[in-house]
Amino acid sequence: MLARTSVHHAIETPSIFAPVSTPAFAIRDLSFFVLAITAAIFVIVAGVAVYTLIRFGRRRAEPEVEPAQVYGSTQIELAWTIVPLLIVVVLFLVTARYIWGLERRAQPPDALEITVVGHQWWWEIRYPKLGIITANEIHVPVSDTTRTTPTFITLESADVAHSFWVPQLAGKMDVIPNKTNRVWIEPLRVGTYVGQCAEYCGLQHAVMLLVVVVHPEEEFRAWVASQQTTPLEQETTRPGRQLFSSLACINCHRVRGTPGNGVFGPDLTHMMSRSTLGAGAARNTPANLRAWLKDPAAFKAGALMPAMKLDDAQLDQLVGYLVTLR
Ligand code: CUA
Repeated sequence: MLARTSVHHAIETPSIFAPVSTPAFAIRDLSFFVLAITAAIFVIVAGVAVYTLIRFGRRRAEPEVEPAQVYGSTQIELAWTIVPLLIVVVLFLVTARYIWGLERRAQPPDALEITVVGHQWWWEIRYPKLGIITANEIHVPVSDTTRTTPTFITLESADVAHSFWVPQLAGKMDVIPNKTNRVWIEPLRVGTYVGQCAEYCGLQHAVMLLVVVVHPEEEFRAWVASQQTTPLEQETTRPGRQLFSSLACINCHRVRGTPGNGVFGPDLTHMMSRSTLGAGAARNTPANLRAWLKDPAAFKAGALMPAMKLDDAQLDQLVGYLVTLR
């Protein structure tokens, strides 16, 4: 319940200039440093160009007087070689120092561990130590400066190259098949932060949304407890549950406590705790869920989930069951 209400925290603009997490603060500071240097270069170059245009643009032509010839001037050539070289070296060293500082952060023993697996086109979210599997919405505790609780994220891909990016929390990190990458976040403010796959990965690259919900410690523990429960078998939804178990749904989807144990699609054990269907393709309402089951391609062309060719009565039964998976 708590987890569901917290999804309605104000959703912020995904901007690197509005950081709320330690690595994102570092990236913003570095961006300002690079912007300051490049802005100074721009102002000097553009200023001299504009001054020259205004000052000398309308001078009367004097063909007999040749301007001063500076070709071969060692001083000028050294100046315009060494100064840019120094600027590039400074930018390189500062950037390398920031990257090094972020990447060598050691994982504290009590850090939260998450594995995120990119799929065409959704995110599988696993909490290996907590026994939770969900999709597209990451829930983490807030950190405070007295007691930091960072989250270390292991990134894997099931198919093609994706990129994990939640701009307010950390930098981009590629999600590559057969390679494990890592990224860490340390959000210092409760809220809901949005991200998006940042590497072109096929037809629905644009509909591969990510949400990170940052909870107060207590609220996070309540979310964990609710996700660890096994859905109760209800008498009224038995036909829908039997239908689900008799269809091909169970080849791709898992619902804890049922024959459904597939791993190709999102885990549905607590699917109604999530706010969207199809990684942001539609709001997760019973009406949208019914339309999604009837034909996923209507929301998300190319989605790997097939239309199940169910009649209206079967759709009602199936939705009646799925909406109980909270
Ligand atoms: Cu996944 Cu773009």
